[in-house]
Amino acid sequence: MLEVLPRLPDDPILGLAAACRADPNPNKVDLTVGIYMDEQGLCPVFEAVQQAQRQLIEQESSKAYIPPAGDAAFNTGIQQLVLGADSSALLAGRVSSVQTPGGCGALRIGAEIIQAARPNARVWVSDPTWPVHIPLLGSVGLRFESYRYYDAPSHGVDFEGMVADLKSAQRGDVVLLHGCCHNPCGADLELEQWAQIAEMAEQQGFLPFIDIAYQGLGDGLERDAAGLRLLVERLPELIVAASCSKNLGLYRERTGATLFIGQNSASAEALQSQALVAARRVYSMPPAHGALIAGRVLGDQALRQSWQNELESMCRRINTLRSDLRSKLEAAVDQDFSFIEREKGMFSFLGLSAEQAQRLRREHSVYMLDSSRINVAGINAANIDIVARSVAQVLGR
Ligand code: LMR
Repeated sequence: MLEVLPRLPDDPILGLAAACRADPNPNKVDLTVGIYMDEQGLCPVFEAVQQAQRQLIEQESSKAYIPPAGDAAFNTGIQQLVLGADSSALLAGRVSSVQTPGGCGALRIGAEIIQAARPNARVWVSDPTWPVHIPLLGSVGLRFESYRYYDAPSHGVDFEGMVADLKSAQRGDVVLLHGCCHNPCGADLELEQWAQIAEMAEQQGFLPFIDIAYQGLGDGLERDAAGLRLLVERLPELIVAASCSKNLGLYRERTGATLFIGQNSASAEALQSQALVAARRVYSMPPAHGALIAGRVLGDQALRQSWQNELESMCRRINTLRSDLRSKLEAAVDQDFSFIEREKGMFSFLGLSAEQAQRLRREHSVYMLDSSRINVAGINAANIDIVARSVAQVLGR
């Protein structure tokens, strides 16, 4: 029976990372997966995470299941991190959450809730969006519409196009927004633009679903969440998918949360109960390790301070790399690369064709996605010249 199943192509992101790992060239450069890498090309474990992990290993006396909604300290910590401790929705008890296996689990639980509330709802996604959004949300039966977002010639947001397209979003539709550090393009909305989206959601009645996977890596923890928080203050209902993969470096521990902002505490509680039933159907219980660590880091003053300091220095480094890459590229190619400095977070589209991206891999062992999305955090002093030189060569300069 199973022989009817053909071999499928490799994942367009993870498959390229595997190809890079297999490349014997000692000067290869991996700019594929969105993982923070330091100057040595390693993905570090935060000092606060290491400390919390040591405490956990010393004190953990059982491997029994944690509660289905997840660790209580983690849920409190993540709600306050995303919404702000002084969020009026939090203070009014309109927020609930469930701990999930990573940001993907959070998106999937959000999708399950949307499907339960409105079967086959239309979800508006930005063009482009993270490619995994489509199978993750589509597999529960949701349908998609796309709204204009990235304007390739200006390397910025086509906000007029976005607004024009979202005028067709109706009550019962969902609009998926990237909370910050847009994946894949790095072009984010300004706060006034978030305000305009809030107004449209209020008037047209669509439900925003916010994916925030990079909080803290654009302009810092507070500013990166400002647009999302504005929506929370103004709208009666909202779903948020949060991830601790990048900002706490807990990638492999699969640590995330779906947050529900309901009209009142009864609806927040109802949404959580729905999420628990959905989770039971899909993966039963969330994994413990990462969330027990994150809960400790977020809830302990000293650990939290240490984590924030380290996160801020990562964020500063990414922004410095953006400036350095711009200078190197502009020195090698007679072209304006200032957009790299304007963008936020880990990603940027270099504006190359798929063929040029493939040539970079084949001829220079510089790995980026076919869309020319690069992970800026994969650049370091040892490889930045290789990247600039190789890009200049495929651009024919
Ligand atoms: C990425 O976009 O590279 C990351 O979010 C990792 C992934 O799972 O694709």
